[in-house]
Amino acid sequence: MLRRLLPDGVEVVESFCDPPEAKLYPEEAALVRNSVEKRRQEFTTVRYCARRALSRLGLPPGPVLPDLHGAPRWPAAVVGSLTHCDGYRAAAIAYRTELTMLGIDAEPHAPLPDGVLEAIARPAEQAWIRSAPPGRHWDRMLFSAKESVYKAWYPYTGQRLGFSDAELRFDPMAGTFTARLLTKPPVRSHGRQSAPDLMNGRWLVGNGLIVTAVATAPR
Ligand SMILES: CC(C)(COP(=O)(O)OP(=O)(O)OC[C@H]1O[C@@H](n2cnc3c(N)ncnc32)[C@H](O)[C@@H]1OP(=O)(O)O)[C@@H](O)C(=O)NCCC(=O)NCCS
Repeated sequence: MLRRLLPDGVEVVESFCDPPEAKLYPEEAALVRNSVEKRRQEFTTVRYCARRALSRLGLPPGPVLPDLHGAPRWPAAVVGSLTHCDGYRAAAIAYRTELTMLGIDAEPHAPLPDGVLEAIARPAEQAWIRSAPPGRHWDRMLFSAKESVYKAWYPYTGQRLGFSDAELRFDPMAGTFTARLLTKPPVRSHGRQSAPDLMNGRWLVGNGLIVTAVATAPR
């Protein structure tokens, strides 16, 4: 599903089950040793997906460990993102020459629990959702798209976003969205380009899931 949302050059590997051949490196296994089985399974399968994507990019397998705030740490030459929800796991990885920022997210295509929309949506987003075309759970779509924005933004900027820090607009016909960043991005060192004010994303509904993706090419 995510393959259809991302440009050529991004390696996407998805799984709708937990294959028995998926295994963790010892340093990965140590991170989920005390976790519930569901967490161990999603953590293991999504890393299996990541290793297959890395291999397609010609990179050797290795542990995918989180940074201080949970973001996966990739080989220096690539950007990538992981997601998992009930019945679905996915990894998307690309060379930095193709993309500077990449975020993916999957959610069940179902309404958000009561009260969550008010916590994650800005007033303009809530107003749009009230009048949005029927047939899609736009509240959950907004949540997923914001998670994709966060997963693209944080690894690039080192800045953690709150749900009010970006205002999203959806195009229900085109299957796209834009995120306007309302926070000032930190100035980058290491010669990197500054982070954009606007990020473009795409969304899709299928197999009972919402998937969203944000990808930014080098300027
Ligand atoms: C961390 C977070 C993004 C995970 O999203 P989620 O929908 O709950 O869960 P998903 O299964 O889709 O994604 C989990 C994966 O996200 C990745 N992730 C976690 N923290 C991350 C970060 N700071 N940056 C990038 N990716 C991150 C990890 O790979 C994680 O999988 P893993 O723990 O198995 O390695 C979310 O829980 C969160 O804390 N969001 C912060 C607030 C926010 O989204 N603000 C929106 C701003 S517009």
